[in-house]
Amino acid sequence: MINRAYLQCIIPSCGATYDVGQAITECGACGNLLDVAYEHVVPSSFKGTFLGRRNPGNNIFNESGVHRFRESANFTGTDSGKYGEYSKVLVSLDGLEGNTKPVNVTAVARYVGMDPKTLYLQFEGRNPSGSFKDNGMATAFTHGKMVGAETYACASTGNTSASAAQYAANEGKRAFVIVGQDASPTKVAQALYHGAVVFKLEGPFDKAMGLIKKVADEKGVYLVNSVNPFRLEGQKTIIYRMLESLKWNPPDWIVLPFGNGGNTAAFGKALKELYDWGWIKKMPRIAVVNARGANTFYHLYHERGLKWNGGAANDVMIQDYYSRLHKNRVRPRTKASAVAILKPENMKKALRTMEWTNGVAAQVSDIEIMKALGVIGRNGFGAEIASAAAVAGIKQLVEQGIIGRDETVVGVMTGDWWKESKEIMAHEERKGLITVPPNIDVIYRKFDEALRAA
Ligand code: F0G
Repeated sequence: MINRAYLQCIIPSCGATYDVGQAITECGACGNLLDVAYEHVVPSSFKGTFLGRRNPGNNIFNESGVHRFRESANFTGTDSGKYGEYSKVLVSLDGLEGNTKPVNVTAVARYVGMDPKTLYLQFEGRNPSGSFKDNGMATAFTHGKMVGAETYACASTGNTSASAAQYAANEGKRAFVIVGQDASPTKVAQALYHGAVVFKLEGPFDKAMGLIKKVADEKGVYLVNSVNPFRLEGQKTIIYRMLESLKWNPPDWIVLPFGNGGNTAAFGKALKELYDWGWIKKMPRIAVVNARGANTFYHLYHERGLKWNGGAANDVMIQDYYSRLHKNRVRPRTKASAVAILKPENMKKALRTMEWTNGVAAQVSDIEIMKALGVIGRNGFGAEIASAAAVAGIKQLVEQGIIGRDETVVGVMTGDWWKESKEIMAHEERKGLITVPPNIDVIYRKFDEALRAA
């Protein structure tokens, strides 16, 4: 199938359009974000095609959990059925990205007070670079290849830079990243290991983001932050895999941590397209979860009533809030360093998702997050600190009666536990590490003590 794609301003009253051959992230007319839009509906008969590709043969683009759904994001102008065409432009880490699906988690369900049969978590940390970002890098680098980019850049709390560095390395391109001062050392090590030029800012992520946009403009490098609409096209496949696994019966709720709002934006777009194309008959509700110490979205949406309002969101309210943060020198304060963000780049797209999905916003404390993190580990899975905010959020929303105990819920776990192994070690060793001398009798005794305590 061939589709025709174009870029379009997200604000309906502007609606300016641009060619997909351009690497731009803002509307030239009004300065707002852009969507990738398509001329043709993707028929629901592709459900079968997508499933069939789970038998990939030797085709890495069928193996990829992103490019397996290539008709959902076909902005390359190639025929998605002709290997000879699409294989020349699609970028993949040899088919490794996006091989995830929602799974049942009994101990977590018990913890949040839900029916274990209807609670799922989707572990996007099981991507090659250890976070959901790879879903989006596959399509951002595909667009980069279309426009002939040689140098890729991003600002990051850590995961975006790790993923960008890995894709750039595999494509033989350069990556240039600025990480905020709170980025976890493991993520910075990934970026360095994959050969990126890494700038560590003596300042928070929000500053790094402002700076990298200037650098990208001035130096003409290709920006792979979530302001890049082509990146978000790949992140839509998180929803495709979720729905496919649930036999295209949408869950009641999708719950995710909120940082820049990129996933929130991508999930809303995916669901709206599928609804408009007639693939699903019901829109799930989206619940986004802020860490309490970086709760701009929760504050503005939930407490101040900021709404998308058909594209006429109250800009003054947003700018006033940012000025107040600046004046009071507010810094993010949370152990969930991945989402230590006070000025979400996708604010308006996220507000739009909330309108489309009748969404809710919650905030959780670091104590709630760390408790949830421990439960996920004891269930035999792994997630990084920011991801555990989604589980803490589900628990809170169930307790408040907003999420019903037997509703179907999918929580998206955005990164893997080893991203923050040092922090997790610090948290766990007090509880579980038993230091022993090389003496068999002491070990027997400690063994019996541990058995009794279990
Ligand atoms: N979870 C993890 C593990 C993340 O790394 C991020 C964002 C988020 C959640 C938030 O996602 O921005 O789509 O709302 N990390 C970015 C980075 C900011 O630079 O790695 P979002």
